[in-house]
Amino acid sequence: MGKSHLKIYTILLISNLCSIAIGQIFVKFQDQCACEQLLYENECKANPICNYSNDRCQTIECSLLPVKNCGYNKNCALVNNTCVDFKSCGSHNATTEEACDKLNHNCYFDDDDRICGNPQPFDLGTCSQDLFSICLIANEGLCVRKNGVCKEMTVCEEAAYNSLQCLAAFPACEMGDEICVSHLKCSQSEWLGCAIAKEKINGDRYQLCMRGISGCVNFDPSQQTKESCWKNSSSFYHWDGQECSRCNWASIIKSVLFVALLILGI
Ligand SMILES: *[C@@H]1O[C@H](CO)[C@@H](O)[C@H](O)[C@H]1NC(C)=O
Ligand SMILES: *[C@@H]1O[C@H](CO)[C@@H](O)[C@H](O)[C@H]1NC(C)=O
Ligand SMILES: *[C@@H]1O[C@H](CO)[C@@H](O)[C@H](O)[C@H]1NC(C)=O
Ligand SMILES: *[C@@H]1O[C@H](CO)[C@@H](O)[C@H](O)[C@H]1NC(C)=O
Repeated sequence: MGKSHLKIYTILLISNLCSIAIGQIFVKFQDQCACEQLLYENECKANPICNYSNDRCQTIECSLLPVKNCGYNKNCALVNNTCVDFKSCGSHNATTEEACDKLNHNCYFDDDDRICGNPQPFDLGTCSQDLFSICLIANEGLCVRKNGVCKEMTVCEEAAYNSLQCLAAFPACEMGDEICVSHLKCSQSEWLGCAIAKEKINGDRYQLCMRGISGCVNFDPSQQTKESCWKNSSSFYHWDGQECSRCNWASIIKSVLFVALLILGI
């Protein structure tokens, strides 16, 4: 094994050990199980976009999906009330804002040109630059003013009650009785049915949770049964015949590798 490979391997190992030690399992939505990964009939049948036949689980074609389930498959889009294969925001003749929104792919409607287009990455500056002087959103995500300084919002309690920030930070934050309340850990996630907690206000990683004896706790696949595995993991795990195992680690490994490559400068 080459020297740099050994380093990458070591970093991977350490970071895996760390996340196991802390007992947290983070997921991103693109890591949910695909129909083709589900082996157990009940898991397949419980998934509205999967078809179980001849002992196999397969993704139902967009054109055969009922309209109400179209949104569950991120490769499909609703066009003129029919479910079709999604190509791009601009290719479905969406000439109204409503039609553009209904494609359900974060498409952006240009009012002047009446064109539905792909969302454009836009340089919003940093929170501390506060380009729009409203201290709401920047490249980091949501911002909040604290002691007169605009900074990245990291805790919901920093946002004023009834503020736009508190509303926009769903599901990391909730409008409580008098303050904006954080739900950044499983122990704070009762209100979401104890399924997931958002890792940070700005970001796209979620913590999986489950109900334990002492309330809502971090998800533990070893506690799951054949019947509970897929459902109770918000479809990130499936029953592989023996245990409850994770469907996709891809995006996590990728981000760890990316960090490793940065550190090593290669
Ligand atoms: C499910 O699969 C069977 C066998 O391949 C096929 O005949 C049927 O049309 C499929 N149903 C849907 C809704 O895709
Ligand atoms: C939308 O569907 C309706 C009914 O199926 C049809 O009459 C109409 O021509 C369609 N519109 C477009 C823009 O495809
Ligand atoms: C969009 O409209 C053009 C011109 O009316 C038509 O030729 C094309 O087939 C339409 N495309 C779709 C996906 O409906
Ligand atoms: C799965 O979730 C249901 C509903 O929240 C709960 O009643 C059940 O105890 C959970 N099963 C396991 C093994 O965590």
